[in-house]
Amino acid sequence: MLSAYGREKSSFHGNERIQGKNAGLTGHLSEILSNLPLVKEFCAEEWEKKRGNHWIHQLFQVNISNSLITNLLLQLKNLASLLHTTAMIGLGLWMISHNEITLDIWVAFYLYSQNLLNSFSRIMSIWGTVKSSQRAVRRITELMAEQTEPDDPCTGSDGMKGDILFENVSFSYENQPVLKNLTFTAPEGKTTALVGPSGAGKTTFFQLFERFYSPDQGSIRMGKTDIFKLPLVQWRRMIGYGPQSPYLFSGTIRENILYGIHRPVTEQELLQAIEDSQCSDFIRAMPHGLMTRIGEGGSGLSGGQRQRISLARLFLQNPKILLLDEVTANLDPESEYRVEQALARLRKGRTTFVIAHRTSAVKDADEIILLNSRSFNTPVPERSL
Ligand SMILES: Nc1ncnc2c1ncn2[C@@H]1O[C@H](COP(=O)(O)OP(=O)(O)OP(=O)(O)O)[C@@H](O)[C@H]1O
Ligand SMILES: [Mg+2]
Repeated sequence: MLSAYGREKSSFHGNERIQGKNAGLTGHLSEILSNLPLVKEFCAEEWEKKRGNHWIHQLFQVNISNSLITNLLLQLKNLASLLHTTAMIGLGLWMISHNEITLDIWVAFYLYSQNLLNSFSRIMSIWGTVKSSQRAVRRITELMAEQTEPDDPCTGSDGMKGDILFENVSFSYENQPVLKNLTFTAPEGKTTALVGPSGAGKTTFFQLFERFYSPDQGSIRMGKTDIFKLPLVQWRRMIGYGPQSPYLFSGTIRENILYGIHRPVTEQELLQAIEDSQCSDFIRAMPHGLMTRIGEGGSGLSGGQRQRISLARLFLQNPKILLLDEVTANLDPESEYRVEQALARLRKGRTTFVIAHRTSAVKDADEIILLNSRSFNTPVPERSL
């Protein structure tokens, strides 16, 4: 009985260890593949090879020890079954020869005990399956328990207007405070610039505004309405977000520009957006123009080209609120000037937040908010690196 339980228990833990090592190896491989230029640049091939070999060796070791334990316990189970049969026959023969029992009673008893052993074996194997599924079920349960975003229908955003008011907003990642008691008003239809040192929380501000996170305290309102009470899909569709690092995926340039545009787009509009974002020259130079395929994350394009494609998407989106996070940082001065001109046209009459380090990009702003990472009341704890 103990040996049967032991077999299932160790094979359960063995499976868990194999899954853990497998996850480690695949995680390592995907990290390496997505950072190949970095590995080559720093001539780290040999080092990565060693790290890869280490993971493969560990996976090999747990597989071997798991097979050894499983096979050893299987042999023990076979041995126990053999001993049981031998004991039953020996004891039966002795009892029959001493007239303790008759042959038919021994046969019946033998068959019953055999059945009992088989049933016990089956229960143990079901128990093993249940135990090894337990981890997956636990993980799924944890995921199901995660709070999900509301899945509200989109019914238009006409009623949503007004100034944007931040009132005493504080936010921390885990226990790291980023924004503290942020209070200001961004007037409707005007441009508000956010400036401050790297790490001050400018991008975090946009993520709060897009409702990727909720503030720890304080409120963000549009007019009189708390933005967290507005239907999420409508709220996000009102916002055009030009991110600091453009989000592109594998597909054609055309597909990338049209991604997430929830309305029919005419060829004229598409060409205008491409013109405004200064994409036309480099797209024309590509072998298949707009139908040129790019790789995952926009590989095959320069940093500036990725940024301009992301901007073309923004021009097409025609949003009510614009969030621009250093969108011209990777452009050459001439393209930057032209994109700024087009953005100035786009910004007209829209509530816009601009993050920029260069003064040229914030000079036209109606309001400037300075975020200072050292302005927290809570001192940043001294930690060794
Ligand atoms: N997802 C996250 N989890 C934990 N901490 C984060 C996360 N994102 C940012 N931070 C931390 O929050 C702080 C503010 O980051 P944020 O990206 O908002 O800065 P930023 O002002 O946009 O900087 P930059 O000008 O360099 O883009 C930083 O100290 C950063 O380490
Ligand atoms: Mg940032």
